[in-house]
Amino acid sequence: MRHFLSVDQFTNEEFMMLVKRALDFKYGRDTFRSDRTAVNMFFENSTRTKHSFEMAEHKIGMHQVNFEVSSSSVKKGETLYDSVLTMQAIGVDVAVIRHPDPKYMDQLMNLNIQIVNAGSGSGQHPSQSLLDIMTIYEEFKYFKGLKVAIIGDISHSRVAMSNMMMLNKLGAEVYFAGPQAYFDRTFERYGTLMSVDDAVREADVVMMLRVQLERHDESEQDFTKEAYHQEYGLTRERFLTMKDSAIIMHPAPVNRDVELADELVECEKSRIVKQMSNGVYARIAILEWVLKGRYDELNSEKW
Ligand code: CP
Repeated sequence: MRHFLSVDQFTNEEFMMLVKRALDFKYGRDTFRSDRTAVNMFFENSTRTKHSFEMAEHKIGMHQVNFEVSSSSVKKGETLYDSVLTMQAIGVDVAVIRHPDPKYMDQLMNLNIQIVNAGSGSGQHPSQSLLDIMTIYEEFKYFKGLKVAIIGDISHSRVAMSNMMMLNKLGAEVYFAGPQAYFDRTFERYGTLMSVDDAVREADVVMMLRVQLERHDESEQDFTKEAYHQEYGLTRERFLTMKDSAIIMHPAPVNRDVELADELVECEKSRIVKQMSNGVYARIAILEWVLKGRYDELNSEKW
C-alpha cells in the first residue's frame, strides 16, 4: 500500500516522474479518473492545501467524505488513530491529513487506508514541495547548479524542510538567509547560510517563507513587522537587486509587508499565484500515484 509521506521516500527520478505527470494533467496531455473515496482531515488550518486537494479530487471524479475537526468526535476526545480507523471502517480509501505532530503518520501505518501527508507540524510538507519543484521546473527546466535562496523562518517551516532536502538532492545550490534564531546548524548539510542581501542578489529563485508566529515560543515573540521586513524581508530595494531572470516564490499565506513587500506579491517576477494553481495538478499526480499503488496491490481494477 502506497503512502505519500515525505520527500525522502522518493528518488530524484520518482519525484520528477510526479512533476511530469502533474504537467501532463496541467496541459491536458493526459487524464486520470478514479471512483475511490477520499477524506481530507485537517487538524491545522489550511486554505490552499485543503481546497486544492478537494479540487484535485473533484477533477478526477473521486468521492469525498466531509470531515471537519470542529464538528467531529475529536471534540469528544477521540484520537487521531481512532478517527482514521473510523474512516477506514466506513470504506474511505485515501486520507489526506494535516496534523501538528511531525510524526503523526507513524501510528497509522498498520491501518488499511492510504495516507497522504498534507503537512506534519514543522516536519514535512511534501505536496507543497512537489508543486514548488514543478513551478521551478516549468521556469528553468533544470536543477543542477540552480541557485535557490530559502529566506525567513526556516526552522519552523515544513515547506523549507521538504524543499531543502529535495532541491539539494536534485543538485540545486541552496542558500539560507534570515534570523539566526530561526536557523538550525543541521540545515547546513543541505545548503549555505548567507546574508539576505547576498542571497537575494545571487539567487535564481528567491523563496520567501512566512514567519510562523503560531509555532514560536515566548522567547521568540520579540517581533515587530516593520523591523523584520527591513532586516530580513524582500523589500522593494532588495527586489531591485534580483537578477533579471530570477523569480519570487512563497508557499503562502503571505504576511504582506513582513516577509514580502505587498506590491511584490503579484508582480511580474512573482510565481506565487502560479504555485497555487500548480498545486491542483501536483495533487492529482499524488492521488494517481497512491491509487495506482493500491490497484497494483489489489491486482484488480486498472487505473
Ligand atoms: N502553503 C500552504 O500549505 O498553505 P495552506 O496552509 O493555506 O494550506
